[in-house]
Amino acid sequence: MVAIDGSAGSGKSTTAAAAAARLGFRHLDSGAIYRAVTVALLRSGRSGPALERVTRDELADLEIGVEWREQGMEVQAGGRPVPERALRSERVTAMVSQVAAVAAVRAHLLELQRDAAKGPGLVAEGRDMGTVVFPGAEVKVFLDAHPRERARRRLLQRGVHPEAAEIDSEAARLTRRDQRDASRSVAPFQQAGDAMLLDTTDLDPEAQTDEIVRLVEAARKHR
Ligand code: DC
Repeated sequence: MVAIDGSAGSGKSTTAAAAAARLGFRHLDSGAIYRAVTVALLRSGRSGPALERVTRDELADLEIGVEWREQGMEVQAGGRPVPERALRSERVTAMVSQVAAVAAVRAHLLELQRDAAKGPGLVAEGRDMGTVVFPGAEVKVFLDAHPRERARRRLLQRGVHPEAAEIDSEAARLTRRDQRDASRSVAPFQQAGDAMLLDTTDLDPEAQTDEIVRLVEAARKHR
């Protein structure tokens, strides 16, 4: 069980996916599940503060689920896959942090995430993997990088050629989202006491993956 937490744009998704592929493990992208809830709530016509008043019964009605396909995790809402472009839309990215701060939402998603560990092995990534969802994970890593580098990566991912001014405004947006995630009362985004900090500012994805696989191999030897 590998728990990877870290700030937005720190390289979590790429590294977790690559490490899971090398190890033959599942890759749980927990952020995608929070995004799917946000998509479903927005589709139901909620916006603004109404997003935060969602009840447990209403959450159950959204039918959020995860299916494990050969190509990876598929997130569902209402029994149907939620397309990647809906999960990553600007509107969802702007609202997801607010939805992820709701205690009922986090409680509702806990079992769904823990069920992922029933597979052959798991690399789980998010903000509270090592602290709340999988506190007993054998390997815990906390990824971070300089905000401007994180912003540059996010813009490149979106196909934008990053100019200095855009990098600055994206870095400010990312930092605001991290602060919001870190200041919520339930499962705040923070480094687990027993997680290893990996600064990825000057590391490429391959070097980050090598480091995680090395930690897994070391943990296996100490079993
Ligand atoms: O990693 P991401 O950008 O897809 O995450 C989307 C949002 O969901 C982000 O604002 C933090 C939140 N999140 C969370 O609160 N807990 C997790 N385990 C994963 C994501």
